[in-house]
Amino acid sequence: MSKTLQDIREELGECRRCELCETRTTIVFGVGNPTTQVMFIGEAPGKQEDLGAEPFIGAAGKLLNELLGIAGLKRSEVYIANVLKCRPPHNADPLPHQIEACTPFLREQVRSISPVVLVTLGRFATQFILRTDQGISQLRGRIQITGRFSVLPIYHPAAAIYDRAKLPVLEQDFALLGALVAKRREELGLS
Ligand code: URA
Repeated sequence: MSKTLQDIREELGECRRCELCETRTTIVFGVGNPTTQVMFIGEAPGKQEDLGAEPFIGAAGKLLNELLGIAGLKRSEVYIANVLKCRPPHNADPLPHQIEACTPFLREQVRSISPVVLVTLGRFATQFILRTDQGISQLRGRIQITGRFSVLPIYHPAAAIYDRAKLPVLEQDFALLGALVAKRREELGLS
């Protein structure tokens, strides 16, 4: 039997498995419905998340909440986690040894939640879940079936904050997500 999210959180403890423990304010474990059919994986906590202990509560989170509406989803019905659970100083890219130290817990979270659809937001989450070096521009908007779940890579919402031309692409991909979730729910006889 898979572990509960609470078991996984307890195992993680006051993690000191990499140097990000020295600079973080809080561990940002994940938030949402532990039995959801739709799980989102982002990159790493930013400043707001580090202070608030919840993923996607800053500017990118506000945009994510709006985009969820396009997919017909409410934030409270999905689960949201990140590749890293501690903020890299200056929002630096996650480093390979940090990903290696942190992601066994993310894997356990995915196993515990066992979603039907896994949405990877941005390059790091997508490359980690799909075990690929391909770029997000090539992979976004293309549904991939891996094992028991469908993976949908999408640009990270922050990308549209820096480059407004990405917003219509994000909107298109969240509309695709809505259709995918409806289809998978129907196939599985879920409401
Ligand atoms: N960006 C992420 O990837 N995750 C967060 O939680 C916040 C911003």
